[in-house]
Amino acid sequence: MDESRRQLLIATTAVGTAGAVALAVPFVASFAPSERAKAAGAPVEADISKLPPGEMMVVEWRGKPVWILHRTPEMLATLEKIRDKLADPDSEKSEQPPYAKNIHRSIKPEYLIVEGICTHLGCSPTAKFQPGEASGLGAEWLGGYLCPCHGTLFDLAGRVFKNMPAPANLPVPPHKYLSETKILIGEDKA
Ligand code: FES
Repeated sequence: MDESRRQLLIATTAVGTAGAVALAVPFVASFAPSERAKAAGAPVEADISKLPPGEMMVVEWRGKPVWILHRTPEMLATLEKIRDKLADPDSEKSEQPPYAKNIHRSIKPEYLIVEGICTHLGCSPTAKFQPGEASGLGAEWLGGYLCPCHGTLFDLAGRVFKNMPAPANLPVPPHKYLSETKILIGEDKA
């Protein structure tokens, strides 16, 4: 190759590389999380001081509904009774932090905290706390949740019943108590 042709080739390659870098900048920049996206992933605080026993509140974390259910002693008593009807009663194959791997799937027995998203195809189940015939789910129903999309049933600890479309219990997100009445959802480090 003669010298002038070699110089031309080097110059063209340099321009080509510079062009690629210039193009790459806005592309990479689009991956940088916006302030809004960071806020959407940040932990959220929930004030449970006004949540009466037997009722549930919903907070949004990472764009998902997180349920906080204040269980009554009667609701807690159903958790052991229903064990034989559940697909994963001890939550062996389900998602929860180690401190929620117990029969009530929570730090404090009375407060259930789960992601309210069905583990089948992601619908949001409906609360069916009323036990018995009045629930529309039969005389043996002890209370829980019904996913309206394909009929999956969950108990009052978010555990899925046997032979349902959903494969696992509702996930428990990381969380911790900041005080008796404040819970931080999305973070559990000390
Ligand atoms: S999405 Fe809940 S049963 Fe299908």
